[in-house]
Amino acid sequence: MTAHGTSVTTSWPFIEACFGRPHDRIPVWMMRQAGRFLPEYRALRQKHSFLDMCLVPDVAAEITLQPLRRFGMDAAIIFSDILILLPALGLEVRFPGGGPELTNPIQAAGDVDRLSELVPESALPQVYEAIRQTVARLEGERPLIGFCGAPFTLACYAIEGKGSKDWAYAKAFLYREPAAARRLLERLADAAIAHLNAQIAAGAAAVQIFDSWAGVLSRRDFELFGKPYLARMVAAVQKPGVPVIVFARGVPPAWLDGIGAELYSLDWRTDLAEAHELLAPAGVQGNLDPAFLLGPRDRALKETGRILEQMYGIDRFVFNLGHGVLPRTDPDTVKAVVDRVHEWTPGQSL
Ligand code: CP3
Repeated sequence: MTAHGTSVTTSWPFIEACFGRPHDRIPVWMMRQAGRFLPEYRALRQKHSFLDMCLVPDVAAEITLQPLRRFGMDAAIIFSDILILLPALGLEVRFPGGGPELTNPIQAAGDVDRLSELVPESALPQVYEAIRQTVARLEGERPLIGFCGAPFTLACYAIEGKGSKDWAYAKAFLYREPAAARRLLERLADAAIAHLNAQIAAGAAAVQIFDSWAGVLSRRDFELFGKPYLARMVAAVQKPGVPVIVFARGVPPAWLDGIGAELYSLDWRTDLAEAHELLAPAGVQGNLDPAFLLGPRDRALKETGRILEQMYGIDRFVFNLGHGVLPRTDPDTVKAVVDRVHEWTPGQSL
């Protein structure tokens, strides 16, 4: 029996890999494995707004399970969004279709002090209920991953008010108001820690922290505004048996040393074997460029094979993409990649 009362008869390759313990197949899951590329997601999406899909527990649970039924990944990730945390702090978020928008972004130092305190069980009970329902429906077959945004990435949206390529306004705020920026990052870290701990209490077997935009920071600014908050979060959520994964997209692996995660999720710009050597004893996750899933299937499989050949025999490795599945991806290509990972034997022709 686990701490959550679910009985687990077998160990999960994904969790074993997170801790670097031996297991019998290379585990695979994909960021954004649920979503618009799946016709069964689009069918539900016709009937619900995106936020409803995140906040109606049985709908969120159903969407979480959709990719597992089709592809048999080694882990589910709860269907939700990193920005779900912001309304709980008093920042209203809408998803009008072309990406998220905030109605009252942070513009001045004083705005930071007006943020509310996050009491997770009362602010986001639907997320934890969705986790409990998903875990029950998984019947111990697969672990469920919980997640949240990292303070820097959440601050990007909180300040900029919408998506951006370079996050110039968010960075300008950090440089102009460093004390307020640190207070904001602290508040976001507290909220994200409470949110992850509540997800673990509800049954998440692992958690991933998404710092999707950390790659826009210089090394010095990552040291100031990114890394300390990631390290603090990892220390505050880590518990025996529950691995923490950090995805700091676009950040060179050498900068990640000392954050303390079990696994680092890396994008395609990084050589996985080199990163593994650098980050050991921690492990690595990644790093197929999702663009390969748009192209000819044999090209996607060849690239998958290249990664597997390089990483075969390394226990602390989880196959994933370097970023999320793209909306126009053919589900059959995803299926072919998942099967290729599961069936891989070394020396197989690429
Ligand atoms: O991985 C999964 O399958 C779980 C679901 C998940 C979503 N968002 C669902 C979603 C996860 C893990 C996220 C994380 C997330 N959300 C990140 C970090 C990872 C990354 O991609 O870098 C970020 C930056 C966001 C913020 C966000 N949410 C954006 C920028 C957008 C709009 C762009 C887009 O893809 O539409 C969203 C909306 C969103 N989140 C959708 C989904 C399935 C699309 C909603 C729809 O159906 O219209």
